[in-house]
Amino acid sequence: MNNPTLDLIYKHTSVRRYKPDPLPASVIETIITAAQCASTSSNLQSYSVVAVTDIGMRVQLSELCGNQAHIREAPAFLVWCADLARLERVCQLRGYTQVTEYVENFLIAAVDVAIAAQNAALAAESLGLGTCYIGTIRNNPAEVIELLGLPRLTFPLIGMTLGWPDKQMNIKPRLPLQSVLHWETYNRTNEDDALYAYDATMIATGIYKGRQVPVPGKRDEVEDYSWMEHSARRVSQVLRIGLRAALEKQGFSLK
Ligand SMILES: Cc1cc2nc3c(=O)[nH]c(=O)nc-3n(C[C@H](O)[C@H](O)[C@H](O)COP(=O)(O)O)c2cc1C
Repeated sequence: MNNPTLDLIYKHTSVRRYKPDPLPASVIETIITAAQCASTSSNLQSYSVVAVTDIGMRVQLSELCGNQAHIREAPAFLVWCADLARLERVCQLRGYTQVTEYVENFLIAAVDVAIAAQNAALAAESLGLGTCYIGTIRNNPAEVIELLGLPRLTFPLIGMTLGWPDKQMNIKPRLPLQSVLHWETYNRTNEDDALYAYDATMIATGIYKGRQVPVPGKRDEVEDYSWMEHSARRVSQVLRIGLRAALEKQGFSLK
């Protein structure tokens, strides 16, 4: 099945090389307007986005986000923030006390952020622009919060580079549909077959350029590096252990 919207979605790739051409403010405003059209829990709209175009700020943010070159090279960097600060003000104006100390309130904002950000990404791609999400915005939250002047009850969750692509990346195949789509109940039949099939698909793309790794449990044998090895390495790292403390400092105590 195809139509222009599906075609746009199917050809998504993250973009990590950008032309230096600046982005008119009106284009960023159009993209954020599209983001605002996304569904949002109870219409609370519990997110904000800081659009950073200043090169000095982009350089600093790049350093705070693992020195990723595309953060300083893209003409705009969007910082998507969970935002309960605005609702705190609403409560003050209406004579209520906002409940902020539970995981649920933070999750509402985090889900809102993700949905709005993805609307923005699609809107950008529909205009011929490229984006790349930046999770390393959470590497140094205190410094990012200070640099962007983020008030209590806001928290930077995702960064996003935005600009005119200088190099198109290859489309990365996704897991077989059967891995992620379950009918009626969760079904693990043939789970491993799908995983091995996906590893083979990813090797065939050349993304991992023939890297070899030891076969698990067989010290003398090697095999091609692929998605399972990549993913297992990634999720077996302890990362960003200071996040809870940083969240608490911003007023999200996650009880
Ligand atoms: C929440 C999130 C955080 C990400 N963080 C980074 C990042 O810090 N740097 C980067 O280059 N790509 C980052 N990415 C992009 C992913 O690596 C990319 O989406 C994934 O490899 C699939 O590739 P594709 O987007 O080209 O299809 C992130 C993506 C998401 C959704």
